[in-house]
Amino acid sequence: MRLRASAVTAILRIPLSTTRDAMAPLSPEQLTRELELTIRQLRAATARISELESQLAQETAYRHNLIRAEADLRQLTGESTAMKAVRHAIQQVAKTDRTVLIFGETGTGKELVARAVHQLSRRRERLLVKVNGAALTPSLMTSELFGHEKGAFTGAAKRRVGRFEMAHGGTLFLDEVGELPPETQVLLLRVLQERIVERVGGNEPVPVDVRLIAATHRDLQAAVATGRFRADLYYRLHVFPICLPPLRDRREDLPSLIRHFITHYNRHLGKQVTDVAPTTLELLRRYDWPGNIRELENVIERAMIITQGERLEIDPSWLIPPSLPPLLMTTSHSLAETEKQAIRDALRQSRGKIYGSQGAAAKLGLKPTTLYGKMRKWKIDKDGEPLSDRAK
Ligand SMILES: Nc1ncnc2c1ncn2[C@@H]1O[C@H](COP(=O)(O)OP(=O)(O)OP(=O)(O)O)[C@@H](O)[C@H]1O
Ligand SMILES: [Mg+2]
Repeated sequence: MRLRASAVTAILRIPLSTTRDAMAPLSPEQLTRELELTIRQLRAATARISELESQLAQETAYRHNLIRAEADLRQLTGESTAMKAVRHAIQQVAKTDRTVLIFGETGTGKELVARAVHQLSRRRERLLVKVNGAALTPSLMTSELFGHEKGAFTGAAKRRVGRFEMAHGGTLFLDEVGELPPETQVLLLRVLQERIVERVGGNEPVPVDVRLIAATHRDLQAAVATGRFRADLYYRLHVFPICLPPLRDRREDLPSLIRHFITHYNRHLGKQVTDVAPTTLELLRRYDWPGNIRELENVIERAMIITQGERLEIDPSWLIPPSLPPLLMTTSHSLAETEKQAIRDALRQSRGKIYGSQGAAAKLGLKPTTLYGKMRKWKIDKDGEPLSDRAK
């Protein structure tokens, strides 16, 4: 709407000299001057209109993308205490307009939470604009966020509206905020304090009304301690933190998540899956899910594509963490060798931890006591090293 209004003003700014005094005769010189002036003004107005048109096209394309993403908005599934707390926190904070900072490993649902906050806020009819703090070089990041004037730098052929201005009236989702370069951190702090942006190469501050939602997979406090992240910005952002624990720490969410994705892919792939093979369920339960819910979703999607009947089955090899050598899948080793190697790998990965959800026993799907038995049998110590090596 703002665009259209300014386009109209641009057009109306052209003085319509023919209506000035239609009856007064003009000398040929006066007429030429008037005509030249009018032509110049018309050219300027035409240029402005095409600039505004391209801006509008940019915004429209952006809006289309967002509408698609929003149509795909899925609820935050999960019955764990942690997920219940997350849903409660979203409801509490959504209406307040406060800055939200979302923590969580990759694939834990940070973007889903950001969308939910926006959807439940009074800004839902306006844009949710997304920027990834890790995606661009420092100078490009500045112009991406704050925009630039025509000619601000080589290659700046047109004025560009930054993401903050684009999000005016709506929400800006700043993903990977922990990766922002120091120079952008300073500028971001300024916007949060003063609620104005300055385009690169511009000298006119533009007021913006934007709600900020930031997300990171980093321990930001540690980044502050090492000087990688500004403490003043951290405190500005850390108004209302929401933490999404990794899936391995909320395994009780697995059944509802699995159901959720099966229902989703039944609909989207036209399948009729109604249950999960017990061996598959066991595999899904035991796995550590380094890629969290995104990885779970991918595994289920893959299985759903293949499944013909009603029972979902997965191939165990899909779940082997990439850091594990693919020994388990080869046949050139004896079964005993394979088992030995798997135990050593698991022990190394869990840094000697046997018990617990992140321990080697859980990784291998064994009882800790069984694992101890096997370690004795194969003479492996808790770090995955041969016992005899240590004894030397
Ligand atoms: N609680 C949940 N219920 C249902 N689906 C979920 C849930 N959490 C995440 N998902 C789904 O998992 C996928 C990953 O989520 P999302 O993109 O929000 O993660 P992220 O934390 O932003 O990941 P990254 O750090 O890699 O960007 C998405 O498809 C999302 O819809
Ligand atoms: Mg994300």
